[in-house]
Amino acid sequence: MSDQEVSRGLEGVTVAETRLSRIDGETGELTIGGFPVEELATNATYEESVFLLFEDRLPTAGELDEFRADLAGRRSIGDEVRDVLRRAADEERPAMDALRMGAAAASLGTGADDSGEDARRVIAAFPTIVATYWRYREGEDPLEPREDLRHAANYLYVLTGEEPDDAAVRGLETYLNAVIDHGLNASTFAGRVVVSTESDLVSAATASVGALKGPLHGGAPGPVLDMLRAVHESGDPEGYVRDALDRGERLMGFGHRVYRVRDPRAAVLSSAAERFYEAGGDAEFFETVRAFEDVAVGLLAEHKPDRRLETNVEFYTAALLAGIGVPQELFTTTFAVARVGGWMAHGLEQLADNRLVRPRARYVGDTGREWTPVEDR
Ligand code: COA
Repeated sequence: MSDQEVSRGLEGVTVAETRLSRIDGETGELTIGGFPVEELATNATYEESVFLLFEDRLPTAGELDEFRADLAGRRSIGDEVRDVLRRAADEERPAMDALRMGAAAASLGTGADDSGEDARRVIAAFPTIVATYWRYREGEDPLEPREDLRHAANYLYVLTGEEPDDAAVRGLETYLNAVIDHGLNASTFAGRVVVSTESDLVSAATASVGALKGPLHGGAPGPVLDMLRAVHESGDPEGYVRDALDRGERLMGFGHRVYRVRDPRAAVLSSAAERFYEAGGDAEFFETVRAFEDVAVGLLAEHKPDRRLETNVEFYTAALLAGIGVPQELFTTTFAVARVGGWMAHGLEQLADNRLVRPRARYVGDTGREWTPVEDR
């Protein structure tokens, strides 16, 4: 590519090889660790998905037990991390800011400088960091993680203090697996850029959390839930969508940089959410969700006839996580709890065959300016 050609947002530029996931944006297929997302999301435990990404194969029963125990043994966080989280909660900082600060503090007191260990420690500690912050926010004492529970079950336990039922664990696990990795999305790329300087994986995780926070990436499901609740109350999805588009707003939960068809994760999560709402949730609310999707996709097609804007992963994430009982304020941090498995696998992959990431920019500023002393300006 010449110095003059600019690909804004790096659209269409291939900058790495990966065996972790493959997206076909035209057909709407997503492969994670060699499996179709539907297969992995509905069958795997989160620990199996992480092992798969790290080792490029499924674990045997013995390996899985060992890996699970290893992660479970790394869930606790130190007082120094708790202090940061208490302060973040007291100051009512957003959950993603708390996670960023907690992740950064997680390397205190470990003494370790090993990428594999860092990767496992960060993955294991993320749920504890999020839940500890949340319990402080709610005026409750944080809970010690339970080593006897699976990763997903322990996350719900440390959040709520109750042992979750199987349906909630399975629903959350489906979500965690469905979004664990997704090509070179912005947060994954940000992490790989950090690792490419031969920095460490904790720094990479911190950068990734920062990138995920934005509404164009991971910040959409909270606003999606607000939108769904408003529409459920008004009973007028068409009016809502038309008004939003007339105001020039983007409809959260729709459109994607890569997919030109419905995001395959939306299908996986909508089935998972449907099971939930049918088995005792607010079935009428879920009917609103479905009806809203149809109306929105139709009106977006009228609004942008040249660009297919279909449902993305965030739309049903909002419905599913709300159904399971994850607080809305923690939707994006829960996305991070899932995606950190992919971030860490990408970090290790980058390190294994590293090349410093260093693109170029086309200079469009002035040249040849003459310096004016400050007293003459
Ligand atoms: N609602 C309304 N219009 C949308 C839209 C949406 N959700 N998504 C894209 N568009 C419009 C844009 O305004 C743009 O119109 P313009 O050409 O008149 O400016 C056109 O479609 C092309 O969009 P573009 O900005 O090129 O898309 P992108 O590839 O940069 O954006 C997203 C991808 C995901 C950032 C974008 O679709 C979006 O903002 N979606 C809402 C946020 C969201 O759900 N994020 C989660 C992503 S998983």
